[in-house]
Amino acid sequence: MITRFAEQGRYDIGAAGLHWLIAVLLFAEIYVGWTFGDMDRGAVRDLWFDWHKSVGITILILSLARLGWRIVNPPPPLPARTPRWERVVAGLSHFGFYMIMIGLPLTGWAAVSTGRAALTSDMMSLAGGLSWPLLPGLPRGLHEPMEGVHEVLVKVTYVLVVLHVSAALKHQFLDRGRMAGRMWPFPRR
Ligand code: HEM
Repeated sequence: MITRFAEQGRYDIGAAGLHWLIAVLLFAEIYVGWTFGDMDRGAVRDLWFDWHKSVGITILILSLARLGWRIVNPPPPLPARTPRWERVVAGLSHFGFYMIMIGLPLTGWAAVSTGRAALTSDMMSLAGGLSWPLLPGLPRGLHEPMEGVHEVLVKVTYVLVVLHVSAALKHQFLDRGRMAGRMWPFPRR
């Protein structure tokens, strides 16, 4: 099956499956972030925030898994006729996505690990009554900088998503070449 994907110049089922799973979780996470960010302190906000931490840590684990998968199964080469500028932009945006998929959860986790929660426990609460360890040994002075970087990375995410979706639509509807459908998770007949 993997050979058939490679022959067709497409991502294999593991890389494509993780791509779509992480994409859905990323959109959901931004929605949850906006929602709890606008709420007053209280039980409802705590519940939304528990979901924010849970989905964020899940994104971190899945992104590290995808990075490992990518190292073991290198992505299919771009079609030979791809112009140089497109190769450079694609490389930069893929690197940018890994930065935010890993950097966003890490800065959020670091912000919580240096905030109020860290005064009373070395664990943070997740959804469904689960808990997760705080990052140990971080100075409290990092709390505001980490929140600030988290917010900046959210804005970088918007830019990357617009760029990425525009490129995918261009390949699908304007170029209609071999680049279209590279991330479709099922083999073509
Ligand atoms: C890919 C994963 C993540 C995404 C896309 C994301 C996205 C967001 C968004 C959209 C906001 C609202 C920002 C605003 O209102 O301006 C936010 C706030 C926040 N997130 Fe995340 N987040 C992620 C992971 C995490 C994780 C894992 C944690 C903690 C374990 C976390 C902790 C926080 C905190 C503490 C805030 C409030 C920051 C503030 O008040 O300035 N985030 N996040």
